Amino acid sequence: MNIRTIDWKDNRIRLIEQRKLPQELKYVNIGNLRSLWRAIKTLQVRGAPALGAAVALGIYLGVKGGDEDNPKAFSRKLDEAAKYLAASRPTARNLFYGIERVCAKAKANRHLPVARIKRIILSEALKVMEEDRVACRKIGINGSRLIKDGDTILTICNAGALATIDYGTALGVIYRAKTEGKKIKVFASETRPLLQGSRLTAWELHKKGIEVSVISDNTAGFLMREGKINLVITGADRIAANGDSANKIGTFNLALLAKYHKIPFYIAAPLTTFDLAVRSGEDIPIEMRSPEEVTKILLKKEVAPKGAKALNPAFDVTPAKFITAIITDKGILRPDYRRSIKKIFSQ
Ligand code: MRU
Repeated sequence: MNIRTIDWKDNRIRLIEQRKLPQELKYVNIGNLRSLWRAIKTLQVRGAPALGAAVALGIYLGVKGGDEDNPKAFSRKLDEAAKYLAASRPTARNLFYGIERVCAKAKANRHLPVARIKRIILSEALKVMEEDRVACRKIGINGSRLIKDGDTILTICNAGALATIDYGTALGVIYRAKTEGKKIKVFASETRPLLQGSRLTAWELHKKGIEVSVISDNTAGFLMREGKINLVITGADRIAANGDSANKIGTFNLALLAKYHKIPFYIAAPLTTFDLAVRSGEDIPIEMRSPEEVTKILLKKEVAPKGAKALNPAFDVTPAKFITAIITDKGILRPDYRRSIKKIFSQ
């Protein structure tokens, strides 16, 4: 079953409404910047590469209307759209990559008529999308080399088709291993507070016929101690120049547990997730979300007393020294990451 998370249809962005999963597979059509901003903020669309594609298309939504005889007004509109979307979520590098890609293309063509630049923006955004589809499949091919027949893999959050255009990074590796005939089992850490692991990862693995068991986030250490996990693979939201990697809150815990139990811990991400301008994880901005996401299950049932405080960082940073390898679309990176990352970007 093919899962197409984000698409461009009838001049609008078509998204799987991820808050409705796993109960309902519903699509939403987004035709303006405000709705897109809200969709990103509320995680109707989420996952670093999907965000990158959404904002790239979003820039087009922001500039497609309006006066075509006024290049100055157009350029102002472009900057406003970029600024507005950049303020939606701070951590995923891809979100900024998507904005920068289309804006740079528009600026490089600023001498052309506005109508032409608009078309160029749309075609660049579609390219960002297509490139992610290809990159994820390459990550799958590269990463599958690390998977043995019969392995049981632990993952957290959702780094699958639902976090990309249609395939996935961490889950892409698993999909590829399956097509190569390897029998894989997956433990999906539920990923409190918003349950991307149980709602989304378990949903898509199940749909693709891969054996998956949901565990509460507290269960990973128990399973590792019992020898039930062969390796951990997660996605990333931003990878610094030294290999420190930001991903969903709880990823760092898994890396520490994996190190203690001598289990390989892999990150899978496209090069578009790397941020060479950020020297180390300390400089990666971490999104703080509403305390209500913690005190109420899926913002509904209260599970803390009224008035209780809560803290809700959406991501943490796993220091490079806990990462066995980073699986990218251009190959598998090993420590020393500062060197291997530099090398891959200079090829
Ligand atoms: O808050 P989310 O659901 O957007 O967080 C997503 C993750 O942490 C993913 O693991 C990451 O973006 C990689 S997606 C291929």
